Amino acid sequence: MGGAELVQASISLKPALDAIGKSIDQRFDRLLAVPDDGRERLYLAMRHSAIGGGKRMRPLLVVAACDLFNVDRERALRVAIAIEAVHCYSLIHDDLPCMDDDDLRRGKPTVHKAFDEATAVLAGDSLHALAFEVLADEATHEDASARAELVLELARASGPSGMAGGQMMDLAAEQREFDIGATTRLQQLKTGALIGFCLEAGAIMGRIPESQRTPLRGYARDLGLAFQIADDLLDVEGESAKTGKAVNKDAAAGKSTFVSLLGVERARTQAQMLIEQAIEHLQSFGREADLLRAIARFTIDRDR
Ligand code: IPE
Ligand code: IPE
Ligand code: MG
Ligand code: MG
Ligand code: MG
Repeated sequence: MGGAELVQASISLKPALDAIGKSIDQRFDRLLAVPDDGRERLYLAMRHSAIGGGKRMRPLLVVAACDLFNVDRERALRVAIAIEAVHCYSLIHDDLPCMDDDDLRRGKPTVHKAFDEATAVLAGDSLHALAFEVLADEATHEDASARAELVLELARASGPSGMAGGQMMDLAAEQREFDIGATTRLQQLKTGALIGFCLEAGAIMGRIPESQRTPLRGYARDLGLAFQIADDLLDVEGESAKTGKAVNKDAAAGKSTFVSLLGVERARTQAQMLIEQAIEHLQSFGREADLLRAIARFTIDRDR
């Protein structure tokens, strides 16, 4: 994959990322109207996390996957809101003093810094719950079994067999050295599971049978791994002014990552190989999968 091709892909993705960012902000703004009854602080903290920041990669993945199967855009955006709500919750809790203890997120103070720890815990809990409320609503899909499948898959991807389990392994990886196999598993759970949901959700919304979901699952697996390797590379090589969060945290915490295990160059090569592999999984699709291909290239080409 040549450098020029990567730059090209990331340029063409910017309008798509900007557009999805606006849609997501508008929807969170509507969903999180601040009440006047003692819960203001909770809603303000949720808004601080959910509105006006982040690349919105997961929402874009949902929309790109739904577009493959001509899913109604409004419905796809409901699923996009749900996954972004879970992602925001995971970031709020990830930043807490008892986890990564970070002060900066998306170029702003973290929620526990801007508010306080108790409010941050509750804002995370509330965004988590909000995701399932949105998915289970009839407006998301007319077929109750599709809604149940979305809820089941997001629960699996978020809980002990997914993101939360990966976060536990991530904490354990500060105490003892994980090998490549264990680190791969950690990353698949911590980051890969929620990314996997984005693609699976497209198939669920489009009522695509299980037997035809293999290519999307292969794409998601390779993309998820490459995405976390890119995040770990940014921790070593990135600039806080661009990433909007602190850098050089992983080595300081003694975390095992692909970068600590392989070194920067081999980790980068591994991420590039995974992205080529991710794109190969899409070969049965035509131009309709170009957005997914561009997202894959952007994943390792990004500076934030
Ligand atoms: C950061 O995710 C946390 C990881 C899972 C690596 P993103 O890089 O998608 O963060 P935002 O949403 O753009 O802030
Ligand atoms: C966090 O991974 C992943 C989740 C929130 C599930 P990191 O701790 O590496 O993410 P950043 O670097 O703080 O965004
Ligand atoms: Mg972390
Ligand atoms: Mg962190
Ligand atoms: Mg990181």
